[in-house]
Amino acid sequence: MPQDVHCIIGASGQLGTELAVALHNAGERVVLLDIKAPSFSALLGLPFEKVDVRDQAALSAAFGTHRVTHVYHLAAALSARGEQEPQWAWDLNMKGLLHVLDLAAEMEGIRQVFWPSSIAVFGPGSGPVAAQSAYRLPSTVYGISKNVGEHWCSWYHQHRGVDVRSVRYPGLIGTLAPPGGGTTDYAVEVFDHLDGTAPYTCFLKADEKLPMMHMDDAVAAALHILSAPRVSLRCTEAYNINAMSFAPEELFAEIRRHVPAFQARYAPDFRQNIAAGWPDMLNDDMAREDWGWSPKIGLSGLVRSMINARAVRSVAQ
Ligand code: SER
Repeated sequence: MPQDVHCIIGASGQLGTELAVALHNAGERVVLLDIKAPSFSALLGLPFEKVDVRDQAALSAAFGTHRVTHVYHLAAALSARGEQEPQWAWDLNMKGLLHVLDLAAEMEGIRQVFWPSSIAVFGPGSGPVAAQSAYRLPSTVYGISKNVGEHWCSWYHQHRGVDVRSVRYPGLIGTLAPPGGGTTDYAVEVFDHLDGTAPYTCFLKADEKLPMMHMDDAVAAALHILSAPRVSLRCTEAYNINAMSFAPEELFAEIRRHVPAFQARYAPDFRQNIAAGWPDMLNDDMAREDWGWSPKIGLSGLVRSMINARAVRSVAQ
């Protein structure tokens, strides 16, 4: 069996950055693809190819050149940004996925694909605790693309033999790279407003509870589901995974335990309507049963880790 080569598409993004670093630290061979070079590629000596996922020929060439065996297709327009340019978001999200799935079906060397789905597949009618097979009526272009994308993954698995695996991520919170255009982004950007000079203005309502996850658990979920025996995976779409749920006021109260002077105000905008349609949490029993999903970090650990990471960074600067 040829050596594993892990190709991350969207390597400059929030999840791509953390996944690349985790795979590199685990001694794996990693190739980075994005439309802009990740700041860490030169630092870690990782090969980078400037590739737009909408260009299938360029994607195919990169997979072939680097003898890619595992693809992590993370490039996508998120929920809030997608609403501002719906056609662009649809084109990027759907074309990119179909290009990857097609190449995985055609190129023998590609053994596995990881593609993230999202809580955004849910909408009004899914209920506050969304079951694995809850009714799905997504309210954003991003959510529609993830919902349809899940069906494509299932189709490519059943009809073209592609070993594609997926989880429904909640809001992801990490330190290495900022998120880009999501509804859950407040829970990351607030950590840049802890110096007490001005209150942080939150774009969601104080009590808008959403499912969230620390980036370490998100990376672990991707690697964990890929390492599970295929026969144990009953779900061919995307697995619900859950870690914690909180509303802005609960996150801010936890922050205040470390930074008593922290102040927040609320000015809900269009993102509040998106958030209001999403569940508070997901039932992830099937992921726990099928591949042993078990998150490690809760709200207090998350806040501690975000504050510590920023303290380390400001000392280093
Ligand atoms: N974090 C994403 C968003 O807010 C949800 O998957 O769009």
